[in-house]
Amino acid sequence: MTTIAVKDEWKNRAKIDNDTYLAWYEKSVSDPEGFWKEHGRRIDWIRPYGRVKNTSFAPGNVDIRWFEDGTLNVSANCIDRHLDKRGDQVAILWEGDDPKDSRAITYRELSEEVCRMANVLKERGVKKGDRVTIYMPMIPEAAYAMLASARIGAIHSVVFGGFSPDALAGRLEGAQSSVLITADEGLRGGRKVPLKKNADKACDIAKKAGQTVETVLVVRRTGGEVAFQDGRDVWWHEAKAAVPAACAPEEMNAEDPLFILYTSGSTGKPKGVVHTSGGYLVYASMTHEYVFDWHEGDVYWCTADVGWVTGHSYIVYGPLANGATTLMFEGVPNYPDAGRMWEVVDKHKVNIFYTAPTAIRALMGAGDDKVTRASRETLKVLGSVGEPINPEAWNWYYKVVGEERCPIVDTWWQTETGGILITPLPGATALKPGSATRPFFGVKPQLVDNEGGVLEGATEGNLCITDSWPGQMRTVYGDHERFEQTYFSTCQNKYFTGDGAKRDDDGYWWITGRVDDVINVSGHRMGTAEVESALVSHPKVSEAAVVGYPHDMKGQGIYCYVTLMEGEEGSDELRKELVAHVRNEIGPIASPDKIQFAPGLPKTRSGKIMRRILRKIAEDDFGSLGDTSTLADPAVVDDLIDNRQNKK
Ligand code: PRX
Repeated sequence: MTTIAVKDEWKNRAKIDNDTYLAWYEKSVSDPEGFWKEHGRRIDWIRPYGRVKNTSFAPGNVDIRWFEDGTLNVSANCIDRHLDKRGDQVAILWEGDDPKDSRAITYRELSEEVCRMANVLKERGVKKGDRVTIYMPMIPEAAYAMLASARIGAIHSVVFGGFSPDALAGRLEGAQSSVLITADEGLRGGRKVPLKKNADKACDIAKKAGQTVETVLVVRRTGGEVAFQDGRDVWWHEAKAAVPAACAPEEMNAEDPLFILYTSGSTGKPKGVVHTSGGYLVYASMTHEYVFDWHEGDVYWCTADVGWVTGHSYIVYGPLANGATTLMFEGVPNYPDAGRMWEVVDKHKVNIFYTAPTAIRALMGAGDDKVTRASRETLKVLGSVGEPINPEAWNWYYKVVGEERCPIVDTWWQTETGGILITPLPGATALKPGSATRPFFGVKPQLVDNEGGVLEGATEGNLCITDSWPGQMRTVYGDHERFEQTYFSTCQNKYFTGDGAKRDDDGYWWITGRVDDVINVSGHRMGTAEVESALVSHPKVSEAAVVGYPHDMKGQGIYCYVTLMEGEEGSDELRKELVAHVRNEIGPIASPDKIQFAPGLPKTRSGKIMRRILRKIAEDDFGSLGDTSTLADPAVVDDLIDNRQNKK
């Protein structure tokens, strides 16, 4: 296995070298109180905290609090505190879908826009603790909406703009949200996304379920024709003109919720992950600074969507808390062609670039000339997130994109963790392609076997974290028991990540992927149960089982085994119908890749589907099916193998 030593150029520029990493890490795990007491001061507090850490992972009493007696306002940290020093510096550099469209918003302008939006929300009756749902394209107003909510103490819930009306409605209901901020239409790769139309449908669905949306604030993006409901719908450009450009920030407790973000788990509906204010901001800003080795004046670009946690922590909160210039991109990597990313890098002189392996693999397939026709000379650090990066893609990223000048930070984390937990630091960590390397400060990873036994040395197992860090999620919205059950019941007194990992002889960490029924398709996290429930809601489907299988481009593809109702026949036509149905129920990101019609599924005598077998067949690896003797009807397996959709 190749190891790439830290180059002198990286070390010379870096804020943290290896000795500092080791010393800080040691302090952070031996004296978390002392370590975070010092680093908590990196943000501005209205009332300074006295108590630093008060956390328990104990069964029946999971309770996580950081800086609990401190007060602050997150939007004031991301805006107001920068105004004296860098009011005229660009805060958000926006690059539109069309290469001719871009805008630069200074910190002063950001302050005015956010205050106006906060005032519009206030005027519509939004108060501290209310939930504001945000369903937006990648335009600066999405960040204004988040920061405006934070400014008045409202809790935002951002829903990815690619989700369907049904999915949006479920999240409006879940968060009991009566305010929605959206746009007329989104624009991606030259195509329009009917956001307002979807929002209207979602409001109707939510209303039937008992959740009335009282206000829909609509940003005009494309100028496309949209329906308007009197009394409920408000145009942002009209409302903003009628309110002042100043709004005093609400004083919030460190443990007051900042946002809810719905994410998929192995069972049931998506969970509302709750992050709070103080610890989250300390952790997001600190990881942003050190993991990307961010320096004053750097142009930083994270290509995620604000609908995902990466967009929350590393487009909006981390960078803005640090006073960075954060680039926000509306479009897609291959529009107008596959050279777009590198053109944007040159156009805006990007220094730090953070993207997902799925994008790297897609761009790699488009040919090196698309990359090399751009100079990319400003790039200093490259990042990866969202799924394991295969060494081939890693090497291409390192050699072709970065010309071996830029370290790659392969950052492992989750919606639940709020910020990066395992990652190289550019000036400190020797790199191994495919490894997320070492834990960030304060993070104590551990490997455990299926019985919960702790594994030592170089080995593989389930990844747990044994102590809290400030960015950790605090609860599942409205369901603390589900929080405990999901994350703290597998291993006592530990946070269970749901991921498998290997630790090598150097103590480096290699994430191997999910060990539960969550799949990762092009970096998008999905519960197989959600796809199954979408499939069985089709009138011709009686039963469905969904698993992931290795996919060259997407990382994992979606493989569906479908049992039809009596009298129904499987056909390519019906396959198309089912794909369309799932896209409609969840959104295009959940499009099934393979559908196999199966007269029976492999079940135990007690009726439990043996997914292990289905996974093996989907991987076209049925030579090693393991023990099938406990199946109620072992013959179904032969039929499944004969009719598999993935013959190599
Ligand atoms: O399986 C891991 C994978 O993505 C999951 C978390 O997904 P989500 O909550 O949507 O957050 C994605 C962005 C933080 C993890 O459980 N994952 C994330 N980053 C990596 C990764 N797998 C391997 N390497 C990574 N760098």
